[in-house]
Amino acid sequence: MPHDRASGAKPAGPCAMVIFGAAGDLTKRLIVPALYNLACANLLPKDFAIIGFDLAAHTNEDWEASLAEMIQAFVKEDGRNEQVNQNVWKWLTSRMSYVQGDLNDPASYEKLKSKLSETDGKKGSDGNYVFYLAIADRFFGTTVEHLGQSGLAAQNNGNWRRVVIEKPFGRDLGSAQVLDKQILSVLNESQIYRIDHFLGKETVQNIMMFRFANGLFEPVWNRDRIDHVQITVAETVGVERRGKFYEKTGALRDMVPNHVFQLVAMTAMEAPNSFSADAVRSEKVKAIQAIRVCHLKDVPCNAVRGQYAAGEMDGQAVAGYRQEPDVSPESNIETYVALKLAIENWRWSGVPFYIRTGKRLAIRKTQIAIKFKETPAALLRDTQVKKPAPNWLLLRIQPDEGISFEFGAKIPGPTMRLGDVRMDFKYQDYFGTAPATGYETLIYDVMIGDATLFQRADNIESGWRVVQPVLDYWAAEKPKFPNYDAGSQGPAEADDLLKHDGRAWRAIK
Ligand code: BG6
Repeated sequence: MPHDRASGAKPAGPCAMVIFGAAGDLTKRLIVPALYNLACANLLPKDFAIIGFDLAAHTNEDWEASLAEMIQAFVKEDGRNEQVNQNVWKWLTSRMSYVQGDLNDPASYEKLKSKLSETDGKKGSDGNYVFYLAIADRFFGTTVEHLGQSGLAAQNNGNWRRVVIEKPFGRDLGSAQVLDKQILSVLNESQIYRIDHFLGKETVQNIMMFRFANGLFEPVWNRDRIDHVQITVAETVGVERRGKFYEKTGALRDMVPNHVFQLVAMTAMEAPNSFSADAVRSEKVKAIQAIRVCHLKDVPCNAVRGQYAAGEMDGQAVAGYRQEPDVSPESNIETYVALKLAIENWRWSGVPFYIRTGKRLAIRKTQIAIKFKETPAALLRDTQVKKPAPNWLLLRIQPDEGISFEFGAKIPGPTMRLGDVRMDFKYQDYFGTAPATGYETLIYDVMIGDATLFQRADNIESGWRVVQPVLDYWAAEKPKFPNYDAGSQGPAEADDLLKHDGRAWRAIK
């Protein structure tokens, strides 16, 4: 659990949580482990029920058994190398039940409704329900409509009903708007929790604290002092078993308007008036709305895509994207994307934000690198120093979470020479590591009704608006794929994006 939460927060109030997609991967890998961590931290409601809903034929017992296996593996992997705390696990599983149902069938929602009223009586959930849509995106709209028709979404007698919607929220601007309209015809905005798990990461939440709770940084956080910003979300994994999903999605849709733009917004936003959900979200949306939406003809100068070929990772040969399971051998889907963004507001005008994300890159690293402007070189002219020191502030989001500052220092000795040095803060040194999936905070926040870390409709739509011309341009142009080797820094074309501006990417190492 996040450090502060575990030490300061109280258990959430009574509710039941329905997980649609209960037999799926997300439930097993992230939602149930997050519930387990919340239970260990004593943050779940005392009166609580979990209802799994899925098409798969399960009984209560074998659903629980499949989760028990997974949780055992999870606590080992999670760096704890522990045994499952059987008291906690029993507490959790005694609150679980399973409903076999079809998302398209009204009768299934009636079945769910009776199960919920049964648990209201037995587990005291007070008629407060979280509906977690851990299902394929094509079912989001229909499921919400069924929740409306069955009366399950209606908030009466002081109880609440909240719906958590996973990504991808739409495939483009048009479909995101259609989906919003569809769900807003059933729910009001305050009932909708559009999840982006990057916001569950402590290091992402810390960007606001770092900027706004420390007096030092704000005065230099602007176009007067910052030269440019590089945001990297590099992964070593390929598409694994997700070929079918990825063939319809690609790196741009999968990562940019959601995860990467969260990092852009946190870095670029103005200080909100408070940490209330709407104050924070309004500032974030303003930052994304200030990004210039480029004309179709300008896409090639501002966007680069790539697809990995076979290569080597950690000394092991790995397949190219086109050889992955469920991927077409002629696929033109991108597994890498780099964009140059111009944020046209008073703070950032003239400061490019370069972003890149890709699969099968040299190492796993998510980082925001802020390059400050250099000093005038005149002073150093008669020394051996050829160039002033580059000053970089690095927000290390994952792994090796922390913050570093790189600057120049005089190398001891009789002559004036400059060496590159680095100051480092590591989360682990100060706060230890607490096992977390990143979903704990988010699930807890839904239960207590805090939407700060969730996306409002305008956040999502402004993100899609920026990437839409790129999607359109790429849909009409055939790429020369594959164009980077697995285990490399990504395609050479991405280097040109910065070279053109007299800059270079930091190495992914
Ligand atoms: C998911 C994407 O949303 O985020 C995946 O669909 C990606 O393709 C993942 O691998 C990255 O998340 P994390 O937390 O592992 O950095």
